[in-house]
Amino acid sequence: MQKLIVGNWKMNGTSADIPAIGKIVQAAGGHKSVDSGLCLPATLIERAASEFPGFAIGGQDCHAAEKGAHTGCVSAGMLKDAGAGMVIVGHSERRSDQGESDADVQGKARAARGAGLDVIICVGETEAERDAGKAEDIVLGQIDASVPDDLGTGGLAIAYEPVWAIGTGRVPSGGDVAAMHDAIRKRLIERLGQGGTQVRILYGGSMNGGNAAELLAIPNVDGGLIGGASLSADKFEPILAAAARP
Ligand code: 13P
Repeated sequence: MQKLIVGNWKMNGTSADIPAIGKIVQAAGGHKSVDSGLCLPATLIERAASEFPGFAIGGQDCHAAEKGAHTGCVSAGMLKDAGAGMVIVGHSERRSDQGESDADVQGKARAARGAGLDVIICVGETEAERDAGKAEDIVLGQIDASVPDDLGTGGLAIAYEPVWAIGTGRVPSGGDVAAMHDAIRKRLIERLGQGGTQVRILYGGSMNGGNAAELLAIPNVDGGLIGGASLSADKFEPILAAAARP
């Protein structure tokens, strides 16, 4: 399976960062065996999509509804109209900051696929949940309740992002990543049939140029969702290079 490396810029970036995005687009062009893209703040999507046609731009959230009285929200169709080809839903920062439930996330994923966007559904346990030995139960519960099982598997990716690894410089052991990705794969196949073998399972949480090769070599790690190290080409390019290695 071709690896997928997606940068999540979170609440970073203004028009002053268009040249930085340009450098990332250029770096991505040097690694054509890797699928890559950037999920930008909504305010930058249209500009980036028009400046860099052919490069995959995405959003970081969408509303479950097509339109209506939801002040401040953005629908999947609006992201698509602005030039996005994908969207992240259920990021742990939204699950905690905005109190999004698994049911909310499922609704957003459904809306995204309905609008023709690829969707990356995020799951992951907190440190307390891992310490209590509940990591796998929590993550598989999120898969069961967040992933729609009637939409097909095309355009669907899962990102396993342990909450305690995000932005901390801490990464689970290779064995723990392998065990979780295997468990997710098994559950996807149980729920979605053979199509579950084709869903890319990304790892996210402090992935960088120094650890990407090791993480991406783990079976069922089909790519990465990158926060801090996606903000500049200098940091992002080594991850793309690691993903390009056979
Ligand atoms: P960091 O790569 O900064 O740890 O963030 C990961 C993440 O949350 C991507 O969605």
